[in-house]
Amino acid sequence: MGEGINDYTKNIVDLRRHMWMAGVEEELRRLIWQIAVVGKYISAKIHEANRKLAGFKNIYGEDQLSLDRAADEIMKNQLQYSGFVREYASEELREIVKTGSGRGKYIVAADPLDGSSLVETNLAIGTIIGIHKEAILDKGRNTMAAALYITYGPLITMIYSAGKGAHEFVLNREGEYVLAQENIVMKEKGSIFSPGGLRRDWLPGHQKFVEHLEKEGYKLRYSGGFVPDINQVLIKRGGLFTYPALLKSPRGKLRLLFELQPMAFIMEQAGGMATDGKDDILSLKVENINHCSPVYIGSRAEVELAKQFLV
Ligand code: AHG
Ligand code: MN
Ligand code: MN
Repeated sequence: MGEGINDYTKNIVDLRRHMWMAGVEEELRRLIWQIAVVGKYISAKIHEANRKLAGFKNIYGEDQLSLDRAADEIMKNQLQYSGFVREYASEELREIVKTGSGRGKYIVAADPLDGSSLVETNLAIGTIIGIHKEAILDKGRNTMAAALYITYGPLITMIYSAGKGAHEFVLNREGEYVLAQENIVMKEKGSIFSPGGLRRDWLPGHQKFVEHLEKEGYKLRYSGGFVPDINQVLIKRGGLFTYPALLKSPRGKLRLLFELQPMAFIMEQAGGMATDGKDDILSLKVENINHCSPVYIGSRAEVELAKQFLV
């Protein structure tokens, strides 16, 4: 590639082409592509918010929606016309809403913007999406067909899995998602850890587990943004992210439907694991859209080890 511009005489694999080559079912691949495009609109919105921080004003002088709500509006409006989505569940909405004709094949669960409080600090934030083929509540087994997340950082990257491995794409200057890494495979064990929650609120088993990791020389890597924190573990091919049960909130902070299921789906596809400290995240029944769960996610050795400390 010359001077950062793609050399189109070479065979560039973009997202659509990758999904086609991987044999992802047509409606699913069109939906994933549309959501990836929505990521560009959300990124434009984030950019606008940062311009405001820098003293620019909305040209219409209107009251602005919070970034979380704006991202949700963008996602909801775009999916409305996708033709493939019958229901939309979002961290920003109180209930699951009907979408389009109501006959689309898929149900989308979204955390349209994760980590919005980090925007003013210019740290990375993200969008998390789960795509389900069946109704999502009260199912004792997993209903997912695919998952993806987008990271808005120095680069915009997108990781998707449609059940055939986990793959990373980078948005290039021409606005295309270009394949960066195919079939990401986690190592058995890593060397970083990312622990959420305040230490004084941790339960004794978790406390001992973290002390063990520290003794073993694991490096602390916690930005406070779930998407970049998980992305670091995945791209480094090892380590652990955890947001544990806390004294006052035994189910932790992160939501099963919008945050944990999609990440667990991707991590498992990369050969890693995700549990609540005991059971696989993907085996848990989502009782309601706000259902939270503790989480231990990353390479196998650390997730298995956590289990031993938590019994
Ligand atoms: P959201 O912005 O969607 O509400 O989620 C924020 C989450 C997640 O990004 C992160 O892992 C966690 O909150 C951080 O929590 P602490 O501030 O308690 O560390
Ligand atoms: Mn979130
Ligand atoms: Mn959010």
